[in-house]
Amino acid sequence: MKTKKVLVVDPLEKRRRRLASFLRELAYELTEVQDIKQAADKLLGVNNFSFLIFNCSQLDSYQVGLLRSIHSFNPRLSIILLTPQDEPYLGVELINKGLIHHLGEPENLSGLYAVLINEQEKQELRYKNDLYLKELRKLKREQERYLKKADILEEIYDTTIENLMTALDLRDVETFGHSRTVAKYSQVLARILGIEEKEKLDNIRKGALLHDVGKIAIPDSILKKAGSLTEEEWEKIRLHPSLGFGLIKEIKLVPEVGNIILYHHERYDGTGYPQQLKGEHIPLEARIFALADALDAITSYRPYRKERDFQVAREEIIKNKATQFDPEVVDAFCSIEISKWEKIRFETTRFLPQYEPWIKSAKSR
Ligand SMILES: [Fe+2]
Ligand SMILES: [Fe+2]
Repeated sequence: MKTKKVLVVDPLEKRRRRLASFLRELAYELTEVQDIKQAADKLLGVNNFSFLIFNCSQLDSYQVGLLRSIHSFNPRLSIILLTPQDEPYLGVELINKGLIHHLGEPENLSGLYAVLINEQEKQELRYKNDLYLKELRKLKREQERYLKKADILEEIYDTTIENLMTALDLRDVETFGHSRTVAKYSQVLARILGIEEKEKLDNIRKGALLHDVGKIAIPDSILKKAGSLTEEEWEKIRLHPSLGFGLIKEIKLVPEVGNIILYHHERYDGTGYPQQLKGEHIPLEARIFALADALDAITSYRPYRKERDFQVAREEIIKNKATQFDPEVVDAFCSIEISKWEKIRFETTRFLPQYEPWIKSAKSR
């Protein structure tokens, strides 16, 4: 244990010497003074004392004032008051005010030693505690810095996804706004089905925004072909979920996002693509998304047909319950009034003014 410095205050020289030699024997480093004023001179400045032992049979307000200053200047200093047994109330008030840590009797030296050991342990615990707190504060500051950076990265990441999605939608002006609408539909359906976790809902949104990212790799001559597609062309189109998944899996997107991209054309009865997964083998988020995607497709304009209303879409979705769509997702869809789905679509597509001429010209083609 490191040598501790002790300052002994005692007006009686003989008693002070006796106490000092006792503590020196126990390997403490001793400084002796006669009164509390001399002690204050040493303690109201830079010092490394661990203990102040104050032997006193009477305390006046001046001494109490000095003790208070010493205590506030040295919050880690243990102050021990030695007072005769016939003065039991002398230190009580000081203890209550937190100005001294222990009361002892001037003649009970072994008792004093026990007090010193006890205080020493407390001081070491306080010291360790301070170190832990310091470390904790440092970690907290670092964590805040990381969180801030993570927020910025998340923002950049979100913007990148939004921009990529806009670029995809712009490539196919007839479906402009589609990604945003299906993202919202998917989140609403997910909530009805009990998905509450913000992160999961956000991932479903990202997956929905990016669901057709694989179409980047499909040539315009196929994607925008006016007439009907050949079987060979269909085969290429059917590659887009796997192509999309291949594109995003490198950027460590969470499973929900990848599942939507890869499985959004699977059908509940196992006749979809690319893997012909069936029923609950298709991840829930992909089953949710499949309905959202179909709802927007049915109610949107296509060059080869007019948009159909939400009532027609509802009937068509119910007709395909348990074949194309998960029955539970269909029930979730039907649990909301048609007007609410219409409102979502209105909200997600109304802020697209700068692209409206493109859409109009596409519609008039
Ligand atoms: Fe698709
Ligand atoms: Fe779609």
